[in-house]
Amino acid sequence: KHCTAIVLAAGQGKRMGTSVQKQYIELDRHPLIYYTLQTFEDSRVIDDIVLVVGLGQEDYVYQEIVRKYYFTKIKAIVPGGKERYDSVWNGLKVIKSGALGEAAGKGYVFIHDGARIFADEEILERGYETVEKYRACVAGMPSKDTVKLTDEEGFAKETPDRKYVWTIQTPQVFESALITEAYSRLMEREHSEVTDDAMAVEKTMEVPVKLFEGSYRNIKITTPEDLEIARVFLRSGI
Ligand code: CTP
Ligand code: MG
Repeated sequence: KHCTAIVLAAGQGKRMGTSVQKQYIELDRHPLIYYTLQTFEDSRVIDDIVLVVGLGQEDYVYQEIVRKYYFTKIKAIVPGGKERYDSVWNGLKVIKSGALGEAAGKGYVFIHDGARIFADEEILERGYETVEKYRACVAGMPSKDTVKLTDEEGFAKETPDRKYVWTIQTPQVFESALITEAYSRLMEREHSEVTDDAMAVEKTMEVPVKLFEGSYRNIKITTPEDLEIARVFLRSGI
């Protein structure tokens, strides 16, 4: 089936604290977003890519990323919104509009954080296999740390059994029609607490979201120490 990736790169990168937005920080001579896009460009399972960038950055990204690196699968560059879910919704609307062709609307959508530059082909293929079976799935890994829920004052309240605790990553992969319907319902109601795409489905649809294995390398580059980790991963030739 046809697979479209929505790659998100419209965030502010506030926690990184650099003057240049984190997706454009250079590591090993290339901006971070290049590494993510190259993985999707090279993937056997991905047919096309919708790239979501900051409002007003579309031309810059077209020249400095898409043309410079000869990416051929990027079929649209669209502006994001205030929150992550606004950016996802803008990407989904491109698919919904039919601009990518009819097959895209009947296929699968891989929603991915541009800041996860270490997603790899194996993860994308596991996503494909899992979505074929379950219609909605997200990458994640068993939590290495014990997780506690706290009360408002910061006292430990509850400790979920670690064998059921996973930390969630992207890609998050869905039937195109399913995720589009989930987001259109979501945007009609209170949704300020929604932090990932699985939540959009959990809140609006009856379809359970399956987890599949991402990887411990598939970190989201969020704070300055993540950049140090990323440097090591790149050197070790991932
Ligand atoms: N993102 C987006 N649009 C937004 C917010 C986030 O496209 N309005 C993207 C980011 O570019 C990133 C991914 O979603 O690739 C995950 O978000 P996060 O790691 O939180 O990145 P930022 O929002 O940029 O960082 P911060 O929260 O520290 O400002
Ligand atoms: Mg953010």
